[in-house]
Amino acid sequence: MRLDKYLAAAAGLTRSQARRIVHSGRVFVAGARQKDIGAPCQPGDEVLLDGELLVLPAKHRYYMLNKPAGLITSTQEGGYGTVMSCMPDKLREGLMPVGRLDKETTGLLLLTTDGAWSQRLRKPGVHGKVYRVTLDQPCTEAMRQAWLMGVVLHGDEHPGRALSVECLSSHEVRMTVDEGRYHLVRRMCAAAGNHVKALHREQVAGIGLDAALSVGEWRELSEAEVQAVGS
Ligand code: URA
Repeated sequence: MRLDKYLAAAAGLTRSQARRIVHSGRVFVAGARQKDIGAPCQPGDEVLLDGELLVLPAKHRYYMLNKPAGLITSTQEGGYGTVMSCMPDKLREGLMPVGRLDKETTGLLLLTTDGAWSQRLRKPGVHGKVYRVTLDQPCTEAMRQAWLMGVVLHGDEHPGRALSVECLSSHEVRMTVDEGRYHLVRRMCAAAGNHVKALHREQVAGIGLDAALSVGEWRELSEAEVQAVGS
């Protein structure tokens, strides 16, 4: 990275302010005065402005994973394989899954180092989460209506409600919910007298699982996907 860009990012300056400051001789890189705005420098270099160390703000990282069945959504092993095993060692530092998918649930799992972004995604009532649900029994219109109206969940005073339910075939529905309560979709199906045989997440907050990702594969999110979550 060029020195003027580094200075702008680390000190919250515009590029032209950063250039003027470098030209004025107030900046030292690795112990030597540096007046060249194009001098290369990178995170980890010692850059001083008026004797004060300038540190680049941490750049957060954002990924999507096509979660395989059989892995728990945790950063701690605890006897089971975790979703972190799908990520390369060098990327795991500071990385956390966004919310949880059950061990047997497959599909879109987001991971990030950005706690505030993760919290915004997990806030109930804000972002839709779309699941393809394979059912044990045929889906009836009564079940569909019950999910849309809200069903009483076992051991929970708050009903579970779907934002939309689309029948894909006799035993398969696409269901959108906007919260991440424990086993929500499985409990909603049980409350309507059915049973989930397989659960696959297709989308979160408008971010769709990339069809190019095989099971267990991951990729970085695009800038537009990161921004889709809002601030
Ligand atoms: N609802 C569930 O029941 N399980 C999941 O993994 C996600 C949503």
